Amino acid sequence: MADGNITFFLEKLGNFVVQEASLFGEVEGQVRLLRNEMEWMRLVLEDADIDTKCNHDRRLKLWVNQIRDVAYDAEDVIDEFMFKIEHQRQRRPNRFLPTCVRFADKLPFIHELDGRIREINITIEKILANKDRYNIESGIPSEAGSSSSTEGVVQRGKRVPIVEEADVVGMTGDAEAVKQMLVEEESESRVVAIVGMGGLGKTTLAKKVYNHSEVNHHFECRALGYVSQDYRIRELLKEIAHSINLSPDNMDEKQLGEVVNGYLKDKRYLIVLDDVWSIQVWHELSPHLPESNKRRVLITTRNQQIGLDAYAKLYELRPLGEKESWELFLKKTFPIGSTSPGVCPEELEDLGKKITEKCKGLPLAIVVSGGLLSRKEKTKSSWEKILKSMEWHLSQGPESCLGILALSYSDLPYFLKSCFLYCGVFPEDCQIKASKLMQIWIAEGFVQGRGEEMVEDVAEEYLEELIHGSMIQVAGRKWDGRVKSCRIHDLLRDLAISKARDSKIFELEFLRLKELPALEELKVEDGAMPTLKTLQIVHCNGMKTLLHELLKLKNPQRVNLESMNGELIQEIETTEGEEFDKIRGITSIN
Ligand SMILES: Nc1ncnc2c1ncn2[C@@H]1O[C@H](COP(=O)(O)OP(=O)(O)OP(=O)(O)O)[C@@H](O)[C@H]1O
Ligand SMILES: [Mg+2]
Repeated sequence: MADGNITFFLEKLGNFVVQEASLFGEVEGQVRLLRNEMEWMRLVLEDADIDTKCNHDRRLKLWVNQIRDVAYDAEDVIDEFMFKIEHQRQRRPNRFLPTCVRFADKLPFIHELDGRIREINITIEKILANKDRYNIESGIPSEAGSSSSTEGVVQRGKRVPIVEEADVVGMTGDAEAVKQMLVEEESESRVVAIVGMGGLGKTTLAKKVYNHSEVNHHFECRALGYVSQDYRIRELLKEIAHSINLSPDNMDEKQLGEVVNGYLKDKRYLIVLDDVWSIQVWHELSPHLPESNKRRVLITTRNQQIGLDAYAKLYELRPLGEKESWELFLKKTFPIGSTSPGVCPEELEDLGKKITEKCKGLPLAIVVSGGLLSRKEKTKSSWEKILKSMEWHLSQGPESCLGILALSYSDLPYFLKSCFLYCGVFPEDCQIKASKLMQIWIAEGFVQGRGEEMVEDVAEEYLEELIHGSMIQVAGRKWDGRVKSCRIHDLLRDLAISKARDSKIFELEFLRLKELPALEELKVEDGAMPTLKTLQIVHCNGMKTLLHELLKLKNPQRVNLESMNGELIQEIETTEGEEFDKIRGITSIN
């Protein structure tokens, strides 16, 4: 359970189980005790520095893991109870009382719930006692970092305007040089490659060149495609076709290639291929791009060899200099809308410069650090803590940037952590529709209601906060300035994926397939859904076989079939064999 999800679980516990159990004295007491203990656990896990501190102290790490595990167990117990009650409710023959479950029917579950919650409460008590027993310092307040949920945080106030691409500092010389390479007359086609490490600003520079007015005038036609590691040539062609206002829907790769080729023929055109990881892309795409001295291709890549293999003219991007780094840091730390935009109080200048120095001219590290500081109190002690934390993170590995990103993540308020982690499930370099992202956050229970405020508004604030912190970027805006779509930088995406794995956030435990008459079979890949515990299939009448697929699930605990095809029921009830008996033992049929 992600830490933010404990909050969600607590709500669930409050709303449902207390209602159900309030009739039955003892259980109610145990549930209340559980809630109290979970509140304490939540406070511990919400401490933003806990990840950092865990890295310092293995005892603390073990203790925190135990807390997380017991929280998972508690959630399982509650889920199971809910499931059984729900199941019982649906089995009630009396259609006039569809939502009632009789006391006598509930009683065995209540007893079971009581016993299991008692056990969990005892376990929690022991875990909490271990803290003193083994002298574990959960470390609030901490020596190194800062707390993101309480002290040291600037209170979240009115929304401030979001500043993004307009924030680009420097790069004028770079843009001029790359532009020149593209527009100068040549006797043949030309490829230009911007090369440099991750987070250095290659994409930013390529976009700046792409939007340069002279480039716009010079070329009759321009297109930009994001490539990424697992590119599909059809998708890329589609993206290019869209950029040049063709409607490529429902075309296969060959048709798309022909359309793009036909359109570009005899035109002076520029194609930008951002984030190329293998020369294969170029080999596959170039036959679709008519070759002449009017063709220009701009690629960005971390790997210089790709540029060489494409016979490109290389442009090596350099890290930002001291002055530009400071300028960018000021823009991000004191953004427009803050009390004094772009101005650092004198007493903080030294510390700010030290923090900027740590970023070694890498823009991604600077914008993320600035985003982090923009949320903090502008005091010496608060900044000193950040600098210390940064030094610690940087000492952990050779990839300096990654340390700074990890620090920014661990400092996010707990409610933003889960939301940020979710961004990792989208494919690399993909444009994420903001409304879809927010809907998912709400459905996952990551967004907490705040008084009268609509949960959708809270979700939008979360999105804006992540953007302010430079943890995600704006890809497009609506006419009224609100975010329409966003992107996550691939290094931050990698971070989200690895943190999500640690916090087990995307483990699917419950799957319900409902009213899918066209679904004929369920295909379970070996090893898929390893954490799935409950499978419910309701009204999927096209499905005639299931048993063999169920065997591939690693550890199912309940399978619930309702209103299913007779053939399938017969298969479940009649197929012989020990392994099938196990499935039958956990399957209920209604
Ligand atoms: N000159 C700059 N001024 C302001 N912000 C910048 C600048 N260069 C880069 N950034 C910011 O730094 C981050 C990383 O930049 P960008 O995505 O361009 O890096 P990249 O070199 O393309 O990385 P990758 O190799 O991972 O694709 C972005 O958030 C971008 O907005
Ligand atoms: Mg890039």
